[in-house]
Amino acid sequence: MVVTTRTRSPIRSNVGLKAVMAVTGILLVLFLIAHMLGNLKIFTGAVSFNHYAEWLREIGAPLLPSAGFLWLQRVGLLVAVLLHIWAATVLALRARAARPVRYAHRKKVQGSYAARTMRWGGVIILLFVIYHILDLTTGTLNPVGDPARPYANVVADFAPGRWYVTLFYTLAIVALGFHLRHGVFSALRSLGQQTPRGEQRARAVALVFAVALCVGYLVVPFAVLTRLVS
Ligand code: HEM
Repeated sequence: MVVTTRTRSPIRSNVGLKAVMAVTGILLVLFLIAHMLGNLKIFTGAVSFNHYAEWLREIGAPLLPSAGFLWLQRVGLLVAVLLHIWAATVLALRARAARPVRYAHRKKVQGSYAARTMRWGGVIILLFVIYHILDLTTGTLNPVGDPARPYANVVADFAPGRWYVTLFYTLAIVALGFHLRHGVFSALRSLGQQTPRGEQRARAVALVFAVALCVGYLVVPFAVLTRLVS
C-alpha cells in the first residue's frame, strides 16, 4: 500500500480558516451597516427612499451598466457567505473529531452554548435572507411586489394586518444580533489583548454593536406596524 502524505494549504489550517471567517464576516458586517443606514432613509419619505433605491442601481455609471454594482455586490456577498459557511463547517467538524468524549454514551456532548447558537442562528439567517430576497428584491412574496416602488413594498410588507411578517423579521433580526455579538466578540478577542480586561471590553463592544444594529433594522418594520410610516 502506498501512503501519500498530503500537505494542507495554509488557508485550510485552523488559523487560515479562522482568518477566512473573519475576513468574510467583516465584509458581511460592512454590508449590514450600509443596508441598515439605507433602510433608515424610509423616514425621509417615499420620494427620497425610492430615489435612493434608484441611485443604488446607477452606482458606477457610466463605467458599469445599470444595476452593475448591485450584481457585483450580489456575487461578492454570495461568495462571502459560502466561504463563511464552509470555514465554519470545517472548523466545527474538526472540533468534533478532536473531542475524545465523543464515544461516551449518555452524556452527549452538545458543544458550547455559543457554538450551538451560532449554528442555529446561521441557519435561521440563511432562511431569512432567502425569504427576504423573494419578498423585497424580486417581489414574489410581497403584496405590492413592484421593484420600482420599494417604499410601497416595505409599507405593504409590514402593514398591521401582516403582523406575522414583522414577527418573523423580528425573530430573524434577533438571531442575527446574537450571531453578530458572538462573531464580533470572537474577532475582537483574537485581534485584541487576551487579558480578562481586554475580553471584557471586547464583550461590551460586541454587545453594543449588535444591539445598535438590531434596533436600526427593527425600527423600520415597527414604524410601519404602528403607522408612523405609511
Ligand atoms: C427590517 C429590516 C430590513 C428591511 C426593511 C430591508 C429592506 C430591503 C429592501 C427594500 C431591499 C430591496 C432593495 C432594492 O431596491 O434593491 C432589500 C434587499 C436586500 N436585503 Fe434587506 N432589509 C432588511 C433587513 C435585512 C437583513 C437583516 C439582511 C441580511 C441579513 C438583509 C439583506 C438583504 C439583501 C442580501 C438584499 C438584496 C440586495 C440585492 O438586491 O442585491 N436585509 N432589503
